[in-house]
Amino acid sequence: MFDHKDLAQLHSSALKMQNCIRQNTYCPPEGKALRRFSSWEVAELIFKINQSTFRGRMSAEPDLPGGEVEPDGRQRWFTLSEVNELRRRMKVNRQSLMPPRPAGKRAVRVALCNYEGGAGKSTVALHLAQAAALDGYRVLIVDMDPQSTVSRAFGQCEVTEDYTPLGILARDLIRETDRMALETDVETPVPTLPAQIRDTGMGELRVPDFIKPTRWPSIDIVANTPNAAFGEFASAKFRRWNPRWSFFAALSRFLDTLDDEAYDLILCDCPPAIGHQTMNAVFAADMLYVPSGPNYFEFDSTTRFIGRLTEALRGLKDGFDAPLPDGKMSLPKEFAEVKFMLTRFDPADEAHQKMRGAYAEIFGDRLTPHPVEDTRLVQKSGPIQPSIYEMDYRDLTRDVWRAARSSFDSAYTDFRADILSVWDRI
Ligand SMILES: Nc1ncnc2c1ncn2[C@@H]1O[C@H](COP(=O)(O)OP(=O)(O)O)[C@@H](O)[C@H]1O
Ligand SMILES: [Mg+2]
Repeated sequence: MFDHKDLAQLHSSALKMQNCIRQNTYCPPEGKALRRFSSWEVAELIFKINQSTFRGRMSAEPDLPGGEVEPDGRQRWFTLSEVNELRRRMKVNRQSLMPPRPAGKRAVRVALCNYEGGAGKSTVALHLAQAAALDGYRVLIVDMDPQSTVSRAFGQCEVTEDYTPLGILARDLIRETDRMALETDVETPVPTLPAQIRDTGMGELRVPDFIKPTRWPSIDIVANTPNAAFGEFASAKFRRWNPRWSFFAALSRFLDTLDDEAYDLILCDCPPAIGHQTMNAVFAADMLYVPSGPNYFEFDSTTRFIGRLTEALRGLKDGFDAPLPDGKMSLPKEFAEVKFMLTRFDPADEAHQKMRGAYAEIFGDRLTPHPVEDTRLVQKSGPIQPSIYEMDYRDLTRDVWRAARSSFDSAYTDFRADILSVWDRI
């Protein structure tokens, strides 16, 4: 017979090995810098101008950052910070290269969510964030999933639970309970939180404590850790401690305190479940993006996801009767946009084509035009591998890289159009 003491023994043996394995398999080497981008990429793939125009502008303005010539050839290679500076300073046909961004508005918030594990949510989150950064946008990724795929892909391997979205929930519980205690009348007394949460000091953490820079100069992250996998239990306890706490709005409140101009895009990568973490991402989101795989069982799980989410949102509207504290928030939750996107799509696979037809028939305009195609460059990659945008094409068959990149680029083009139209509506 085995009981928790035997499990404790196994756990302690596994822990000894864990750090060693994590260091060797999961994480990009610490401090590894983002690669440079060649003048060909900067001109044609990033600024979308031809190379000779780019070279012309560069020689006309010698004080622009000039990148570095690498030993293997004639191309110049630029860091992303240099690319960003070029974008700010260079004009082509008197046109700015800066991407459109309405003045005075906050960042557009997107939740990437679905039931299915393995749909490609994290891969999509990672690539959309990086495509947006290459396009000149400033991005905050919020990794809501303790599986931490996106965190690890950004080199965040040693994350303390306090500084994860679970920490944001804990901090919010304390602060909201304090606020209620000041506001409330005698008839509705506010519960006192137990010392085990009250004394953690979480209430005093500052917003920037949760936000970490990445090797992408214009992408920051609120990271997650597998150690926060008990989060659903913890947050259920939080709700018992203060039943009037609007548990689903913690992330919204957190994001509301960011400076409007700090980011252009906030992307939340959700776990494959509808729990407190996903509901926080969903409630914070202007736009829902539902990545879905091209097989029948994946369609099935997307269908179930919509059903469960409907129930959860209806439940919030009907079941949460405490007043929402902030004038900016209201129930029922409304989205400016809801989109479905096919991922891991193989255009040569007849079954995939049929499923795509079915998705198009059901979701119509809600289905994004360009699916993310299945590519062996991603398939091979666990979190230790670089993304398509991070791979150095000189190490690969150029056509394979171009095909994979152009699929993610097209998906980003659809996404960008959605972001711009959402910006008009918020
Ligand atoms: N476009 C793609 N082409 C090939 N493999 C993919 C693609 N997108 C995701 N995958 C693979 O599918 C698996 C699940 O992807 P992931 O993004 O982690 O899904 P989720 O976040 O939905 O669980 C991973 O092994 C990933 O490498
Ligand atoms: Mg994931």
